[in-house]
Amino acid sequence: MPLIPMRPLLETVRQYGFAQGAFNVNSVVQAEAVIEVHEMFRSAAILQGADLANAFMGGNANFMKGTLEDKRKGAKLIGEAVAKLAKNSPIPIVLHLDHGKDFDSVKAAIEGGYTSVMIDGSHLPFEENVDLTREVVQYAHERGVTVEGELGVLSGVEDDVFSEHSTYTNPLKAVEFFRRTGVDCLAISYGTKHGAVKGDNIQLRKEIVIATMENLKHEGIFGVLVSHGSSAVPRYIVEEINQLGGKLAQANGIPSSELKPVIRAGIGKINVDTDIRLAVTRNIRELIYNLTNHVKDHMIQAIRERLEQAPEQFDPRAYLTPILENFITGDDQKDPILQELMACIKNGVKEVVGTQIVEFGSVGYAPKVEVISLEEMAERYRKGGGRIE
Ligand code: 13P
Repeated sequence: MPLIPMRPLLETVRQYGFAQGAFNVNSVVQAEAVIEVHEMFRSAAILQGADLANAFMGGNANFMKGTLEDKRKGAKLIGEAVAKLAKNSPIPIVLHLDHGKDFDSVKAAIEGGYTSVMIDGSHLPFEENVDLTREVVQYAHERGVTVEGELGVLSGVEDDVFSEHSTYTNPLKAVEFFRRTGVDCLAISYGTKHGAVKGDNIQLRKEIVIATMENLKHEGIFGVLVSHGSSAVPRYIVEEINQLGGKLAQANGIPSSELKPVIRAGIGKINVDTDIRLAVTRNIRELIYNLTNHVKDHMIQAIRERLEQAPEQFDPRAYLTPILENFITGDDQKDPILQELMACIKNGVKEVVGTQIVEFGSVGYAPKVEVISLEEMAERYRKGGGRIE
């Protein structure tokens, strides 16, 4: 089926009280793996490409300095690939822009085929965040595209989104933000953290979720709350990486015992990126460890050198540069080594995504999601589906 906007999926989440994982991808093979595992669990799927992931998929290995042109190119590449995969898939699929930096990034994503976008104005003063988000909502909703905003600041590192300290979201401000911008969902800061070092005694501020949801209900406003920085950072994967020559210190994630209660309280979309990077890195390290005794393949040697130079690195974009083009497009050129590398990437994605689909409770809900087109969604917004003061 065609890609759907995220809004109908958010409505299903609200109705049945589960959470939908949103999984970051940086390449077509990763997108394939995310879709296949969701199909297996009869769950709808949210695939998300971060703003700089688009720059990477645009072919710029130095993606941290990606240009708007890189982002346009990357958005088109992943947009077309995911639309094609969705067409042959029995489950509803959303392609969502994660941490859209500015209006141009959002436009590039929508033009490339994204059906949902995030505009991250959380670093701005409240009024400026409202203005920017509202402008994006107007543009996106006219096209049937769903919008996620952000209020409050998460600590941690993710691409160029970095903050040393967190500022928890004020529930009253969150409700005002929904009302004044018309966003469909909102990322809040309530104790989660981007990256693999989240602290060893994470306690989520569930009260923030409860208070925000309760006030939204009283005001008659539709809204779903989004949990960023929610990777579990599985201990066994970290240990395996370190046994295979990696050096990950103080790696800790969000335990499922903390996430389950906040899902019941109103967190409906949960972002996971770090876990995917970790599982893929463990698989690649394992392959290289097992292969090097037998094969003197130049690709393997080049990747191995990169991993040895940076044992703390777990972002595949940083060490898969020797096979950049293949990694992005999924073209294995029928080369046995490339095929093994692609299998490592796909299996890593599946291990983590499968676990989280079960943990977040989206198993079996695919048939409950209304399948509507962007045009139909735009019509609903025109008729008052998205309220803007
Ligand atoms: P993690 O770093 O915990 O995977 O969070 C990812 C995220 O929030 C993407 O927006």
